[in-house]
Amino acid sequence: MLVLLGVSGGIAAYKAVHIARGLLAAGHDVRVLPTRGALTMVGSATWEGITGHPVTDGVFDAPSAHVELGRSADLFILAPATAHTLARLAHGFADDLLTATALMATCPVLVAPAMHTQMWQNPATQANLATLISRGVHVIGPEAGPLAGGDSGLGRMSEPDDVLARAQELLSPVPQDLAGVRVLITAGGTREPIDPVRFLGNRSSGRQGFALARASQRRGAEVTVVAAHVDVSAPVETIPVESTAQMRAAVLERQERSDVIIMAAAVADYRVAAISDSKMKKQDSLSIELEKNPDILRELVERRRDGQILVGFAAETGDKDASAAEHAAAKARRKGADLLAFNEVSQTKGFGDVPNAVTLLDSEGAAVSSASGTKDEVAEAILDEIVRMR
Ligand code: CTP
Repeated sequence: MLVLLGVSGGIAAYKAVHIARGLLAAGHDVRVLPTRGALTMVGSATWEGITGHPVTDGVFDAPSAHVELGRSADLFILAPATAHTLARLAHGFADDLLTATALMATCPVLVAPAMHTQMWQNPATQANLATLISRGVHVIGPEAGPLAGGDSGLGRMSEPDDVLARAQELLSPVPQDLAGVRVLITAGGTREPIDPVRFLGNRSSGRQGFALARASQRRGAEVTVVAAHVDVSAPVETIPVESTAQMRAAVLERQERSDVIIMAAAVADYRVAAISDSKMKKQDSLSIELEKNPDILRELVERRRDGQILVGFAAETGDKDASAAEHAAAKARRKGADLLAFNEVSQTKGFGDVPNAVTLLDSEGAAVSSASGTKDEVAEAILDEIVRMR
């Protein structure tokens, strides 16, 4: 297989030599695409000696190289990925051979960020990363450890052997075990209007629903996403909705023609009884009457057709009455979905772009499997269970 190894100008560039050698040892053809900055760290003679191919950073040195390489690549790795090159990828720049080839490539992309902690945590870097993730780019690391200049903290590139292991996973063919299966997924958080400018909402980012959409599509499914408010851009075409009523209508309309329905959205349980037509004025105190929303998942279960698989999510916290797990088991029985993916949440756990841990419960509330890791990994585990059930 042809692997493109983009190397940007971080001190970790020397570690990319180990990655190149590992890829070659595994039998792959490797083409190295360094940035100008990376060439000051590790020169072209090293790369040419290792890979046996000419190495350049300029897009005009070989005018069609980016087209040919981009088209035929099986995997594009960027290691180390500096903040600057991540920004260029996120914004679609094509100002050197590395970025021009990345724009051409349709293969999976794996980036291994490496930079100082402050650069990593900067909202600009995080926003660029979120953009790349929403487009399906795979990210490994960074990790905590020693950094350039004697500093230490989060920002160290993942170990080359870990990058190689992840690359090998991405190069293995994806089983088409959902080929032709029609999967409907809800994502994000519904918003209930209060007046023309205000709403009741929740903290769902849409990432788990989108991870499920991406993974189902890769495994061959025909995917439809109904998305309420989300923080990231969608990997597939979505039907946008705002409120629970709109989500309910969009989902019920598509129930009959769906083989699998995954309710990953955080659905508002209540709506405002009387939505104000005009912007509400400030008052000394305010009470808003709320009415209960219909439970979409319950309705789906009641109207389920033969062979249809219904999956719900439950983000739970423990309280004085029961633990989070006990609440989840009770919910699984109450909802009656084939699977309920339960995760424990707190102020810091479960929301946004953070690792997730879920337990999959059957309709009796019994645990059938569990998964942890990124939202992509959790999505794969949920789909594995769905495939087992079909
Ligand atoms: N759900 C739904 N319709 C609702 C509320 C929730 O379809 N009105 C779905 C969610 O998409 C999720 C599952 O039901 O898949 C569980 O959501 P959750 O909000 O945890 O359930 P609730 O029944 O609202 O329970 P709780 O009392 O804990 O809020």
